[in-house]
Amino acid sequence: MTTKTLTELVLQHRTIRGYKPDPVPMDVIREVLDIARNAQSNGNTQPWHIAVVSGASRERLEKSVFAAIAEGMQPNPEWPTGGRGLTGVHKQRQRACGAQYYQTMGVAHDDQTARDELSLRNWKFFGAPHAAFLSMPKTMHRANAVDIGIFLQTVMLLFEERGVSSCPQGALAIFPDKVREVVDIPEGNAILVGMSFGYEEEGALINSAKMPREPLDAIASFAN
Ligand SMILES: Cc1cc2nc3c(=O)[nH]c(=O)nc-3n(C[C@H](O)[C@H](O)[C@H](O)COP(=O)(O)O)c2cc1C
Repeated sequence: MTTKTLTELVLQHRTIRGYKPDPVPMDVIREVLDIARNAQSNGNTQPWHIAVVSGASRERLEKSVFAAIAEGMQPNPEWPTGGRGLTGVHKQRQRACGAQYYQTMGVAHDDQTARDELSLRNWKFFGAPHAAFLSMPKTMHRANAVDIGIFLQTVMLLFEERGVSSCPQGALAIFPDKVREVVDIPEGNAILVGMSFGYEEEGALINSAKMPREPLDAIASFAN
C-alpha cells in the first residue's frame, strides 16, 4: 500500500504504458473490484461489468487480434468511439497530446508506419500482464457511460493505492468479438472501454511524458 494521499495520487497521475511482466496477485485484483462495487451510479443501476483477462487468456487474445488484423479485420466498436465529434480546442488538445506522445517515443509525425506500430501496442496491452474490458447493457443511454467512467476511475485509484498502474483504453473497445472469444461478457452488453494494468516499468521512456492540463478558470465557472 502506498502512503500517498488521494490528493498526491491525483496530482502525480500519469497514464502508464510500460509494464513489468509480473502479474498482480489475483487476491489484490479481486479486493480492488470488490471495493469498487461501492461506487455510485445513476439510480443505483450499477450498469458496469468488468471482464479481466490474464495469463494464457491474455496471450490468446493478443495473438488472435494480431492474426485477425493481419487478415484484414476492421474495427467494429459497439459504442461510438471517443475520437468522434472533436472540434476546436478539443481537437487541438488531442493533436497536441498525440504530438507529445510521438515526440517522447522519437516517432516523426509523418512516419505513419511507426505511428501505426505505436497504436498497435494498445492490443499488446503495452506489455501489461492484465487487461480488463468494461461493458454495460446495449439498451442503456450514453448518459449511463458516466457510471462506467466513475467505476473505472474508482478501480484505477484503488489499484494506484496498491502500487498497481493502469492505462484506460478506448482502443480496447474496437474488437469486441475477439474479446468475447476469451472471456464472458454478459449477454446484451456492449464493451465501452478497456484498461491494461500491472506494475510500472520504472524509467521506461513511454512512461516519461507528463501531459498538461488546462488551468482551473478555463474549466470551471462559479456563481454566487
Ligand atoms: C476514456 C479514456 C480512453 C483512453 N484511451 C486510450 C487509448 O486507447 N490508448 C492510450 O494509449 N491511451 C488512452 N487513454 C489515455 C489518455 O490518452 C491519457 O489519459 C491522456 O493523454 C492524458 O495523459 P495522462 O493520463 O498521462 O495525464 C484514454 C484515457 C481515457 C480516460
